[in-house]
Amino acid sequence: MKKHLLILLIFVATLIGCGKSEPPPSPPFNTVLTLPQLMNWVLDPAADGIWNAISWVSTTKGEKVIAPHTEAEWEALRNSAATLMEASNLLMLEGRAKDNQQWMISSRNLSKAAEKTLLAVQAKDVDAIFAVGAEIENACESCHIQYAKFDERASKNTK
Ligand code: HEC
Repeated sequence: MKKHLLILLIFVATLIGCGKSEPPPSPPFNTVLTLPQLMNWVLDPAADGIWNAISWVSTTKGEKVIAPHTEAEWEALRNSAATLMEASNLLMLEGRAKDNQQWMISSRNLSKAAEKTLLAVQAKDVDAIFAVGAEIENACESCHIQYAKFDERASKNTK
């Protein structure tokens, strides 16, 4: 009986030992796109798809709203909102996120604003889509101010 217990203990200890010597699994994410590529090729076009979809123009008869008309135009706008919502998650991946504070807050705010856009698009609520466009811009800005430092770069370029 005691012998069996000993064998069992050795077996369990070996299992634990084996588990410890395994290297931790690396995250399966493919993050080869650089941040500028992710911005220029994924986030920016998705945001533009939203910002450019609705505008107001002044005519002789007063203000006129330009909004999607066809079902295909509404679908394109919906896809932009969905892309932006998911692209915000890509910013939070291990290997991309710069820290666990403002970076995450900005990314999550962006995702939330894109989600609101998606709901407004599904309701075809033009005013709400336009209003949430500013929230999207604020989320982009809140991260750029801290991490992109465009102003510093611009002033360096002029020197
Ligand atoms: C969580 C942080 C974060 C959020 C949110 C974010 N960005 Fe960025 N973005 C950056 C950083 C950091 C850079 C600078 C990257 C570099 O130069 O290495 C950048 C750079 C850019 C650039 C310039 C790329 C280049 O060619 O240098 C564009 C355009 C851009 N962002 C668009 C956007 C738009 C549009 C949004 C919102 C829809 C957004 N970003 C949201 C972090 C963010």
